[in-house]
Amino acid sequence: MPFNRRQFLQAAAAASLLPGAARAEFPQLEARVARQRLAPEGFPETEIWGFEGMVPGQTLKFRQGDRVQRRFVNKLPQPASIHWHGVRIDNAMDGVPGLTQEAVAPDGTFDYDFVVPDAGTYWYHAHNRSVEQVARGLYGPLIVEEVAAPDVDQDLTLMLDDWRLDPETAQITDDFNNGHDLSHAGRLGNIVTVNGVFDPAFSVGRNQRLRLRLINASNARIYDLDLDGLAGWIVALDGMPLESPLRVTDTFSLAPAQRIDLIVDVLAETTASLVSVERDGTFGLVRFDVNESAARVPRDGIASLPPNPVSEVTQISTAPLHQMVLQGGAMRWLQSAQLGGADLSGRELAQLGRFWALNGIAERPSDPFLDAARGSIHRIAFVNETAFPHAMHLHGHHFRLVLEDGSLGPWRDTVLVERGQTRQVVLVADNPGDWLLHCHMLGHAAAGMMSWFRVT
Ligand code: C2O
Ligand code: CU
Repeated sequence: MPFNRRQFLQAAAAASLLPGAARAEFPQLEARVARQRLAPEGFPETEIWGFEGMVPGQTLKFRQGDRVQRRFVNKLPQPASIHWHGVRIDNAMDGVPGLTQEAVAPDGTFDYDFVVPDAGTYWYHAHNRSVEQVARGLYGPLIVEEVAAPDVDQDLTLMLDDWRLDPETAQITDDFNNGHDLSHAGRLGNIVTVNGVFDPAFSVGRNQRLRLRLINASNARIYDLDLDGLAGWIVALDGMPLESPLRVTDTFSLAPAQRIDLIVDVLAETTASLVSVERDGTFGLVRFDVNESAARVPRDGIASLPPNPVSEVTQISTAPLHQMVLQGGAMRWLQSAQLGGADLSGRELAQLGRFWALNGIAERPSDPFLDAARGSIHRIAFVNETAFPHAMHLHGHHFRLVLEDGSLGPWRDTVLVERGQTRQVVLVADNPGDWLLHCHMLGHAAAGMMSWFRVT
């Protein structure tokens, strides 16, 4: 790490007003090039691509059941689109170029108009050349509030990202097609920010109860997180409430695109923190300075968040089981796979920047992996034959994990499949349309780990 991660740094970005919002039909969400302080003090500001010129983009906050309307304005030098990650959305609004819409050309616009059926923590991000555009900063939180919000003193969204900055100039390195990254763990950064700030701090009171909404916007980094001076529960994963809150007793992982909602009490007397447990030590990501004058009496107990209106999964054992085999990457190099309808050798694929395959295909296939009748129930087994973990994400649906003993685990939209592991999920295909299914290590998706399913 070239930067001193203990150094504290104030956010430099000021919120800007929406220009031209008065004449637009929908409020605008403009993607543009901007500068922001990401690196510690003493380094220059970094050129980023941000929604409304900020990273993260503004927090979009709604009530459950609200209609969301935003005019996306593309002021970037590349075509772009917005995907509303985790929202069980109308297919035409899903933001996937070549599948649900055309990418919006520079200076073009697209009107997104959809309803948010579920409360919880979601996010929005660019979905064209994501490996580059998300790495440049095109993402923001999408928060849908419960009709009856839980009893907390503060509700904080913490969006984690790692950046690969040139250690001299603090500019984003533009090696997005780096074959080593694509064929290994993906693009990992050398500095971690939370809400676009290096080593941020929040003021909290002793015994205050906090809701922490963690969102991993990193291209590829899996965080192993721990709490220091805070104690509490995981109450939701990927936006969906757990049936019963899970007490945090150990480190917990947050893979790319995943979210974890925590409800925690401040036990520390002076400083608490959210830390990242890494091979070479434990690093503070967020500091909570305890302000005694805001102390309060401790609460006891916790209630679950109210459930979202997802279709219940029944009869899993009779649901058809589809295998999706994850193949390729360093140390398990592809022998061959299909690309453009032809069988190519691993060497030919590598020359074209393809290192991974799903069921023997190194791109989004022309036919869907699964063609499901609306309302039918399906199991998918992700079989990871590679030497790396992958964060498999389904658009438009949440699924339930099927645990080793066959029982149903939590609802998620992104599941981490460790190397050599098989993880089974079950879903009700109840949202009609064409939906992507891909690895959210964005370099892996660009290098072949991309598929889709259809609900008719
Ligand atoms: Cu957040 Cu297709 O992904
Ligand atoms: Cu992957």
